[in-house]
Amino acid sequence: MGHVLGISGSLREGSYNSALLRAARAIYPGRLQIGRIDRIPLYNADVEAAGFPATVEEVKQQVAAADGLLLVSPEYNNSVPGVLKNAIDWLSRPSGDIRNVFRDKPVAVIGASPGGFGTILGQDSWLPVFRALRARHWTAERLMVSHAHDAFDEAGALVDDHLRERLRGFVGGFISFCEASSSPPR
Ligand code: FNR
Repeated sequence: MGHVLGISGSLREGSYNSALLRAARAIYPGRLQIGRIDRIPLYNADVEAAGFPATVEEVKQQVAAADGLLLVSPEYNNSVPGVLKNAIDWLSRPSGDIRNVFRDKPVAVIGASPGGFGTILGQDSWLPVFRALRARHWTAERLMVSHAHDAFDEAGALVDDHLRERLRGFVGGFISFCEASSSPPR
């Protein structure tokens, strides 16, 4: 049985998106692992040329080994957050490795915002990135968490049971898609 790698696009200690990812892992322990991007430097081609950072290589291997990639992404200025885009850009280097890391990799995106639109524009902004990486975007369901401050308590625990069921449905559907995608053709 394989697993999905989930990555939060927020470095903030009290992040709603990280809390959402942890809540998903609590529902599907063993099926969903959490990758971290907080040790990934800002992309710099000079740094890459001097020697590929071990902190990036580690996450790259985690993505390559996973059956699918779940981005839990904040929306910044109606688009993707820079820290997560920076991480994905690093993971796409060198470009010859895109084939092993991202090509045909099942990907999905969810997100949480204190606002009323729940990262809908941010999620759409990931679409050209998925296309550039030749990833396989799972579009069967969508999950936008609006008014996120009402869904989590001070400690970051999910307190909205309706959202927990939506999360169970979304992540369960994505895991099934990943499993079907990784099965050898009959
Ligand atoms: C935001 N925020 C935000 N929210 C939103 O729904 N749409 C948006 O376009 C933006 N834009 C934006 C830009 C910048 C620079 C910041 C810092 C914030 C608010 C954002 O949703 C909020 O800070 C979340 O709490 C961020 O996610 P985490 O850190 O809680 O996971």
